Amino acid sequence: MTVNRHEIEHLYVHVPFCKSRCVYCDFYLELEKHGGVSAYVDALNREIHARFSTLKTDALKTPLHTVYFGGGTPSLLTASQVGEILQGIQAFQVFASDCEITFELNPDDAQSPLDAYLEAGINRFSVGVQSLSNDELKKLSRRHDAQTATQRIHDLAKCMGETANISVDLMYGIPTQSLASWQATVQEACDLPIQHISMYGLQLEAGTALETLAKKATKHYPLPSDDEHVTFYEWAVDYLAEHGFHRYEASNFAKEGFESRHNLAYWQQKNVLAFGPSAHGYVHPTRYSVPSNLKAYTAFSQVAEITEEAVVSDVERFENLLIFGLRLTQVGVKASTLKEACPSPALWRHVEGLLAEKIAQGQVEKRNDAYTLHPAWIPRMNSALCDFIGLDAPH
Ligand SMILES: C[S@@+](CC[C@H](N)C(=O)[O-])C[C@H]1O[C@@H](n2cnc3c(N)ncnc32)[C@H](O)[C@@H]1O
Ligand code: SF4
Repeated sequence: MTVNRHEIEHLYVHVPFCKSRCVYCDFYLELEKHGGVSAYVDALNREIHARFSTLKTDALKTPLHTVYFGGGTPSLLTASQVGEILQGIQAFQVFASDCEITFELNPDDAQSPLDAYLEAGINRFSVGVQSLSNDELKKLSRRHDAQTATQRIHDLAKCMGETANISVDLMYGIPTQSLASWQATVQEACDLPIQHISMYGLQLEAGTALETLAKKATKHYPLPSDDEHVTFYEWAVDYLAEHGFHRYEASNFAKEGFESRHNLAYWQQKNVLAFGPSAHGYVHPTRYSVPSNLKAYTAFSQVAEITEEAVVSDVERFENLLIFGLRLTQVGVKASTLKEACPSPALWRHVEGLLAEKIAQGQVEKRNDAYTLHPAWIPRMNSALCDFIGLDAPH
């Protein structure tokens, strides 16, 4: 694969609003009840105009292949706001005829009827289900219950018909969650009319309400051990494989042809243009972020005021290609791609040697000239991948 250095084919929009903060979540967000959504949409439309205007026309010659609305809670936008945003983007760059346009939707809070989002251009939904146990949803302080989530998915599938492309987020390692209740969630999710599952092991983030609860109310918030996480994960991998969802990335499972093309672009270190407070973009060789500050965002006049940039060194980019590529359990990362991206022959010899050692230790596999993590090491991938972090500058 030739590394695509300049063209932009992927675009991300961050929507930083939520109705309430879930106890485990440490993402930057603003509570919707404090207002600011329409000022945000105005600023976003200005940012789209301003940021596109700074780009060389060469970068925009190819059509967009993916657009992703992530959050926060994108479903706190109305369909007409979403349509306006998409039209603003289309004024600068055409969409490929099969452009994947994903929208994260919380089960309880869509602002418009579902078919209105389809009319606005959305063709893939990612629904934050997390669990299908009401007790666990309460522990997570989610606002929806299991029935609301499943009903939402059936409604979406009905609206989308043959073009249905629906993903759900599920979480394991929830306080009090047993293997049996995790199994029930996965089994029920598999029976829903969905094509994709992202599976997250609950991380106890510093400063979250859950961290305090887990420390102070250990009896009510017992957390599964690391070994239990592995058991939960491995059971799900086998069950999902038997039910048509193949693992294509360590935490992502899809029916054939429904892999997230947007996330693949991130993992393969492609250029991604990003908009909205706390969004992160990459346009070779520069990584940039938009500050997590709604007030500053809505008041900007020059795009430079809301852009924090850093050049990604060739070594860092190579390291990211390797680490994220090894997690791609089906396609992996091609030796030829790595070699081409590697900034020096000496570093490539060093990394090839490391990869050969990992193959001998059974941590990495090489198939069709591509490297992937060995399935047995995926649940413990941090220890398998840490040797590839902080590679030396070119020798
Ligand atoms: C940041 S949310 C955005 C989507 C949407 N707001 C929602 O909650 O469904 C994306 C996903 O990240 C996952 N997530 C957030 N915080 C997490 C944590 N502390 N540990 C594991 N997964 C987490 C959740 O599964 C969530 O669906
Ligand atoms: S709805 Fe999503 S983004 Fe918002 S607080 Fe909950 S997990 Fe975080």
